[in-house]
Amino acid sequence: MATASFLFALLAVSIAICTAAPTNTTGFVSCLADHLTPGIVYTQASDSYPSVLEFSIKNLRFVTPATPTPLVIVKATHASHVQVAVRCGVAHGVRVRPLSGGHDYEGLSYRSIDAACPFAVVDLAAMRAIRVDVRTKSAWVDSGATLGELYYGIANKSARLGFPGGVGPTVGVGGHLSGGGFGLMMRKHGLAADHVVDAVLVDAQGRLLDRAGMGKDHFWAIRGGGGGSFGVVVSWKLRLVRVPATVAVFTVHRPRNRSASDLLTKWQHVAPALPRDVILRVVVQNQDAQFESLYLGRCAGHVATMGRTFPELGVTRKDCIEMSWIESVLYFAFYGTGKPAALLLDRGSKPDRYFKAKSDFVHEPIPRRVWESTWSWFLKDGAGLLILDPYGGKMGRVSPSATPFPHRRALYNVQYYGFWWDNGTEASEQHMGWIRGLHQEMEPYVSKNPRGASVNYKDLDLGANDYCDSDVANSYEKARVWGEPYFKANFERLALVKSMVDPSDFFRNEQSIPPLR
Ligand SMILES: Cc1cc2nc3c(=O)[nH]c(=O)nc-3n(C[C@H](O)[C@H](O)[C@H](O)COP(=O)(O)OP(=O)(O)OC[C@H]3O[C@@H](n4cnc5c(N)ncnc54)[C@H](O)[C@@H]3O)c2cc1C
Ligand SMILES: *[C@@H]1O[C@H](CO)[C@@H](O)[C@H](O)[C@H]1NC(C)=O
Ligand SMILES: *[C@@H]1O[C@H](CO)[C@@H](O)[C@H](O)[C@H]1NC(C)=O
Ligand SMILES: *[C@@H]1O[C@H](CO)[C@@H](O)[C@H](O)[C@H]1NC(C)=O
Ligand SMILES: *[C@@H]1O[C@H](CO)[C@@H](O)[C@H](O)[C@H]1NC(C)=O
Repeated sequence: MATASFLFALLAVSIAICTAAPTNTTGFVSCLADHLTPGIVYTQASDSYPSVLEFSIKNLRFVTPATPTPLVIVKATHASHVQVAVRCGVAHGVRVRPLSGGHDYEGLSYRSIDAACPFAVVDLAAMRAIRVDVRTKSAWVDSGATLGELYYGIANKSARLGFPGGVGPTVGVGGHLSGGGFGLMMRKHGLAADHVVDAVLVDAQGRLLDRAGMGKDHFWAIRGGGGGSFGVVVSWKLRLVRVPATVAVFTVHRPRNRSASDLLTKWQHVAPALPRDVILRVVVQNQDAQFESLYLGRCAGHVATMGRTFPELGVTRKDCIEMSWIESVLYFAFYGTGKPAALLLDRGSKPDRYFKAKSDFVHEPIPRRVWESTWSWFLKDGAGLLILDPYGGKMGRVSPSATPFPHRRALYNVQYYGFWWDNGTEASEQHMGWIRGLHQEMEPYVSKNPRGASVNYKDLDLGANDYCDSDVANSYEKARVWGEPYFKANFERLALVKSMVDPSDFFRNEQSIPPLR
């Protein structure tokens, strides 16, 4: 009996897999036309297709004639448009990729790497409402809003509330929360995704589900399991955090010839152990270490904390500036004071740079001699920069399985980042080569088995799904090579959730979570 029902369950699963419709792009386009008004659907033949697409592309690496772009862009203004796109896509065998802020480091929200398989994009940029409820310290925010719009919207309602998300103001809420999201208040409050208390999503059957409708596992997966795998999240309910009326910031430069190697070495011990109210991150570039710090309190406390924990850094009262929390958001986004808050609302309209990044997590301090030898890398042609974001505090106190983001016990995150404006292939090869070379050289000193990476700094060098391969039988085994660096032990649970909520792998991209079977 038990065996029979087990077999029946297996049969049901394989039916679900085999019912994926063969691709019929004509049928797909006419299905959209039947159910959506003009002005929502942009096919490659539409005059505005290039500008609609370009609006959300943030990386010039993926603006080439050879880049496979979407068959159709559905510029949704209502959740029902997303549902139509998913249902038409399922019925006619055309996959759908969600696009919120377009900052995906590999462009996977708007391009594929294999032109043989057409796909559509559901562009959420027009769905960006923000409703802040000061009384309950919560907000509903649509996925297409940017972090800048969210922070501005919160500060507009209360100077004493904030949100612990990332630094880039043009980053989309949809992709950011999907990948966890960390920023300058993480040591006090944890990840952005830790503050999601409800969400509304369109699943692989085109149903609109909230937290209760999704169930525990599905809700777990969308808070850090990476975008584009578990449905299209339309809206998120966030728990806001209290911020003081006045915060303190400083930025100090310590060049190589002013003990930067010593300071970096010591920083690894100090920064993850600082009190939760303070973060001290470092940007290493040229022959200089730039120490940037936010303190949730006043300068007197900030300078005293630094003097007590890290006197070698030599921070004085003159380095420190007091401001409101929202001014500190502007300060770190645009480097400087006196910038108008409205800058946070500027999402840009065209990609302005080429970029590539890789990431690491460090669990043991890196020896001084390694920092010392790293300086020569910053003198090379094509050199980029390193951003070191310390964890500890609240980050270290949340279980690595509480959300899909597993790297909470790390001392710090390293981002290798390169950007350039030159469109020549030589320039691009130099910058890409620099990032890959330094990343390779750091291998002995960073996390191992697997070497970790951050899914919000997506990196196809780690490996990729075969996007077009409809035989998905061993896709889980193949995907472990990049899935485990991002998610460690949580990868298996993510794949299990995937097999429950999207067994036919409709939401698939080059680094989406495959179903486990
Ligand atoms: C300038 C800059 C600064 C950054 N700063 C930080 C930082 O401080 N901290 C940090 O943690 N990260 C940071 N990031 C990384 C950023 O969080 C990720 O790149 C994030 O995934 C971008 O989200 P997006 O909506 O802009 O991107 P998109 O390209 O729109 O989406 C990214 C991925 O998520 C999927 N997706 C998008 N929307 C949805 C949705 N609504 N539902 C389901 N899936 C969706 C997409 O299909 C794609 O796979 C930064 C990136 C940049 C370029
Ligand atoms: C594709 O879909 C259209 C519209 O639904 C239909 O007329 C056509 O027969 C389909 N083509 C194939 C090959 O199934
Ligand atoms: C809030 O936003 C409105 C509309 O943009 C603006 O007029 C008002 O000055 C803002 N208030 C605060 C406190 O920022
Ligand atoms: C450090 O090097 C810079 C040039 O790279 C130079 O201008 C500066 O004077 C040097 N400072 C010290 C303290 O040697
Ligand atoms: C690079 O940009 C210049 C100026 O915009 C343009 O003339 C040239 O054709 C571009 N080259 C390539 C390889 O795209």
